[in-house]
Amino acid sequence: MSEAGTARAPAPVITIDGPSGAGKGTVAKQVAGRLGWLWLDSGALYRVVGLLGARRGLAPGDEAGHAALAAGLHIVFMGAADGSDAVLVDGEDLAPELRSEAVGRLASAVAVLPAVRAALVGRQQSFRRLPGLVADGRDMGSAIFPDAPLKVYLTASVAERAERRYKQLKDKGLGGSLADLSRDIEERDRRDAGRAASPLLQTADAVRIDSSARSVESVVDEVLALASARGLGARPR
Ligand code: DC
Repeated sequence: MSEAGTARAPAPVITIDGPSGAGKGTVAKQVAGRLGWLWLDSGALYRVVGLLGARRGLAPGDEAGHAALAAGLHIVFMGAADGSDAVLVDGEDLAPELRSEAVGRLASAVAVLPAVRAALVGRQQSFRRLPGLVADGRDMGSAIFPDAPLKVYLTASVAERAERRYKQLKDKGLGGSLADLSRDIEERDRRDAGRAASPLLQTADAVRIDSSARSVESVVDEVLALASARGLGARPR
């Protein structure tokens, strides 16, 4: 990170919001890598809270319990360019468990709790440091970084997202039917977009990109071109 970080202007942020499985994480990570910026995977925070809450036996709707857990988390993200990420919580790497469908459902359930969301606001904003941040999630542009100079809403059809998830599971030797995955995605979309607290939505100032039938590379290039047009990240490789 640059030490010229005493400038008054806040560090630039690119927000990438959208539904589950649209490719936000992959795109955000690559954009951050190309710009040499930090990357915040905000969904991982909700996944950690959901997973630890379940491990501790909290009822899914226990708002105060999950909010206390969220407020007290000691969490360290360690990313490597080769794609191996660790999410260390009190020294334990939770990354292997975090991406499962089961933990995704737990995350989506705790994400509806306003006190949990409130407990995570400052933590997410603290990732905003020079030279810049790429943040992906559901409410990065609408609630956490409303002044971001570039907001992207990345989406894809349910069929495409289910197909991608199916392939990922197959590659890992795991099962799952396309119909079940589609149903799961639709249910998650409904919950993420339908909740009262910071629902998933496309803000008026966000650029919509549909990643269906597009390569990751072309989407990354488009985001970098949008950034460059706004004078962000002067020298993408
Ligand atoms: O992006 P993800 O699949 O890892 O997110 C897991 C869940 O967390 C998702 O169902 C909704 C919730 N989430 C959220 O409410 N707000 C965010 N900024 C990120 C994720």
